[in-house]
Amino acid sequence: MSYYRMPILEETGYVVLDSYGGVVDPSEWMNLEYVDWKSSGDTRFAPLASANGDIECNAFWHFDPPRSDKDGVWIESQVAKAPTLVERVKEVDARVGRCRIIELQPNTYADALYNSHLDDNNRRNPDGEGWVIRSFMQLTDNPGSYMILREDIDDPSTETRIALPAGAQLVVDSERMWHSVWHVGDEPRYCLINSFESGPALEKWIFERNPVTRVEQAPLDTDFARASEGEAQNRRAARTAHYGYDPSRVYSEA
Ligand SMILES: [Fe+2]
Repeated sequence: MSYYRMPILEETGYVVLDSYGGVVDPSEWMNLEYVDWKSSGDTRFAPLASANGDIECNAFWHFDPPRSDKDGVWIESQVAKAPTLVERVKEVDARVGRCRIIELQPNTYADALYNSHLDDNNRRNPDGEGWVIRSFMQLTDNPGSYMILREDIDDPSTETRIALPAGAQLVVDSERMWHSVWHVGDEPRYCLINSFESGPALEKWIFERNPVTRVEQAPLDTDFARASEGEAQNRRAARTAHYGYDPSRVYSEA
């Protein structure tokens, strides 16, 4: 199968954009209806667009007829509560698939490594169309929390940590890059996540926001990093032994 892939994601698999410049009232994410949907830790999700416009988070291939992660149906009751967020997604003018707010409870670096996974964005994607990637926009102000990306989950040297102050925007090929969030603090973290089809409209939107394909990052304490890595890999190995395979290597619906 061949898909259109955006050259800007080729180098590192992610791109960090200018911070969202607007203001979003927290009621836009706090008043939504959330559903339990376990992904990357202790999470709930509030869908804004789903397969059929219902408040659920299943991938679109579960439905009849099964389809790719594009052309999500906006959920009227949720859209009414989050007009600015919906506008932020629609302004890109690219095809949108799953669109939701994630709520993540605080965790540890080791938890994040344990939870890291690859998404399944392109199942049923028709040959010749655009590769589906993910867009993230941080809602709560969590400058000490990080999106943890790795090209290879077993190789810490491939890691990038992207800080998550309010308004942080990134686009990730989340079927290539292992990802999860290390969220510190006492309150949950909220983030707008949606699937977009790669193509000229999305590229235009990205290039208007000063994309950066490699970010500087503060080094982690060596002992802390080593201990966290060991804990995470032990837990990952135990999970693999339990299931008889590594479930995080089977594309996740998250
Ligand atoms: Fe994911």
